[in-house]
Amino acid sequence: MQPIAPIGHNDKQETPLSPPPPLAAREQAREKRFSAYWTQDLNDVFADVAPYYDRANRVASLGLWDWFLNRFMSVVKGRPGERVLDVCAGTNAIGIALLQREPSLEVHAMDRSAAMQEVGQQRATARGLRIQSVIGDVHELPFPDNHFDVVTLQFASRHLRVKTVFEEIHRVLKPGGRFCHCDMLRPGNPVVEKLYYGYLRSCLVLTGFLFRSGPAAMNCKKYFLDALQMFYTADELSGVLRGIGYRDVVVKSLLGGMIGIHRAIRPA
Ligand SMILES: C[S@@+](CC[C@H](N)C(=O)[O-])C[C@H]1O[C@@H](n2cnc3c(N)ncnc32)[C@H](O)[C@@H]1O
Repeated sequence: MQPIAPIGHNDKQETPLSPPPPLAAREQAREKRFSAYWTQDLNDVFADVAPYYDRANRVASLGLWDWFLNRFMSVVKGRPGERVLDVCAGTNAIGIALLQREPSLEVHAMDRSAAMQEVGQQRATARGLRIQSVIGDVHELPFPDNHFDVVTLQFASRHLRVKTVFEEIHRVLKPGGRFCHCDMLRPGNPVVEKLYYGYLRSCLVLTGFLFRSGPAAMNCKKYFLDALQMFYTADELSGVLRGIGYRDVVVKSLLGGMIGIHRAIRPA
């Protein structure tokens, strides 16, 4: 198991007089370690898993997938007529759940994987729902400033340059707009972490076998665990959000911190 890189790990970037702030150092360490995966490999993985992504998640979560989604939706709460952007939307689980609760929403979905969005569009259309899809990289959102009432991001931040993406989301939110985030996080408790990583390792093997994953997904099994081990705890992520300028940050931790749900407001 890879050790979690401590904050300030990237010594080459530091000087004794002005050490980089913790967020910058952690982001540099993540970037250094994972940028090759983020640039290409992950896109191949999601092209591979798109047809069975939703079924695999239900198996891997032992049937808790819909419970996670409901807990997140209870925080997102789309209000009538609001404009919502779901980034890293995958197969549109969020957009569909939002529209089923509040049909008057204007929902946009963005993802880099055309394969995931194709499945997502089929799922939305089959339910008679309209989601406007954009294929592109979330690090540069193709939307004007102050544009959305709500931005959601679920189960993808471990694969992203978090500071850049959270700043972009801040830019496209209207003043007073809500950023709602849900992801697998580092629990912080060493015992829970050990059990969690052991379980995830078995899951990756099981789902790879059950769904006959292709080489792209099989080669990234270690990456998925490493990315989580170098990610943030719920409290650290709250600090990241506040550091970027969000306020009224609230967090709900599920399953001992394995899953974290954050809601943060762009100040008016
Ligand atoms: C684990 S899936 C989560 C999908 C969905 N949010 C959900 O909760 O089911 C991660 C998604 O993030 C997308 N993604 C990863 N890196 C991205 C990037 N740089 N820009 C846009 N999408 C990205 C992937 O293509 C994939 O669809």
